[in-house]
Amino acid sequence: MGKIILTGDRPTGRLHVGHYVGSLRRRVELQNSGEFDKIYIMIADAQALTDNADNPEKIRQNLIEVALDYLACGIDPSQCTIFVQSQVPELCELAFYYMNLVTVQRLQRNPTVKAEIQMRGFSDNDTEDTASQNKKGTPVGFFTYPISQASDITAFRATTVPAGEDQEPMVEQTREIVRKFNSTYGETLVEPEILLPTNAACLRLPGTDGKAKMSKSLGNCIYLSDTEEDVRKSIMSMFTDPDHLRVEDPGKVEGNTVFTYLDAFCRPEHFASYLPDYADLDELKAHYRRGGLGDVKVKKFLNAILQEELKPIRERRQKFAQDIPAVYDMLKKGCEEARKAAASTLEDVRKAMQINYFDDSELIAAQSLRFKEQQ
Ligand code: TRP
Repeated sequence: MGKIILTGDRPTGRLHVGHYVGSLRRRVELQNSGEFDKIYIMIADAQALTDNADNPEKIRQNLIEVALDYLACGIDPSQCTIFVQSQVPELCELAFYYMNLVTVQRLQRNPTVKAEIQMRGFSDNDTEDTASQNKKGTPVGFFTYPISQASDITAFRATTVPAGEDQEPMVEQTREIVRKFNSTYGETLVEPEILLPTNAACLRLPGTDGKAKMSKSLGNCIYLSDTEEDVRKSIMSMFTDPDHLRVEDPGKVEGNTVFTYLDAFCRPEHFASYLPDYADLDELKAHYRRGGLGDVKVKKFLNAILQEELKPIRERRQKFAQDIPAVYDMLKKGCEEARKAAASTLEDVRKAMQINYFDDSELIAAQSLRFKEQQ
């Protein structure tokens, strides 16, 4: 059996540099490596709706933004199948069967779901009183999205899920569902593995304010579609070491956002191009720690690197945005292809569960005999 990738993103906003170093950059490398037989990239609109039921317009708008971000990064529809989750109804059917293999208690232990319920402020005390104060309980669809994600992954017989650290509990739950399914109904599904970024900075790139999470509402993101000037402004106002007041003061690089971004983006050749006084990042960090290196100089270096990386992405995005109907058409073709693959897995699943009654001539013969014998 060959190697197959399935991964995706919720279309709740444009994609940012956190998505880029956490997963997008890697996907393009994997695509170009030729190591995989199939690569599926899914825009998880149905998952996005699990906590945006009242805002379908937001998802509609961002669907095309995410598709453009993919194309801009170099994901190539002639090598990858890019598709939209809601257009593959087979995924719902799989999830419906997997629901019987997972307990409520197991879902409650999923650390990512736990953290997200906290973050979204869903109340565990959803009575008529609290509902009127806008303290709503957790939507069932949201609570069970790890099961739906197991369908996404297994429907395509994915072996490999390149994703961020927050997706680890989802892939672990998927593996459990696969084992449970296979031991109950016979060897049918493929157990996937997550492929995490190897570099700690890429695993969890902080917001420009140093906060752990990049989020639109905090205004601490650098988007792939930001203008050159937006990017420069974000970098020049980045959080650094609050105790590094004068250039001659010694500074800390740990927890210093500018250095975390350099860890994620900087390559040795950037020094030759933009900062030839230093051989590599270690030398730059050593100087900052000693004192005598100002924040502005480091920020300008980071700006040069990011601009170099983002410029071609921005330009490709603008080019693809000139023909939006072609982008929808590409997605539609991707959905058709994805449906075929998912339908073939679903057929195996129904067969394993022995609910493929009308294809099962042995069943029909056996039942027919049983009733004859009763006469
Ligand atoms: N949960 C992912 C996110 O929040 C999106 C997603 C849905 C996904 N299904 C997936 C990722 C399957 C990897 C594999 O971005």
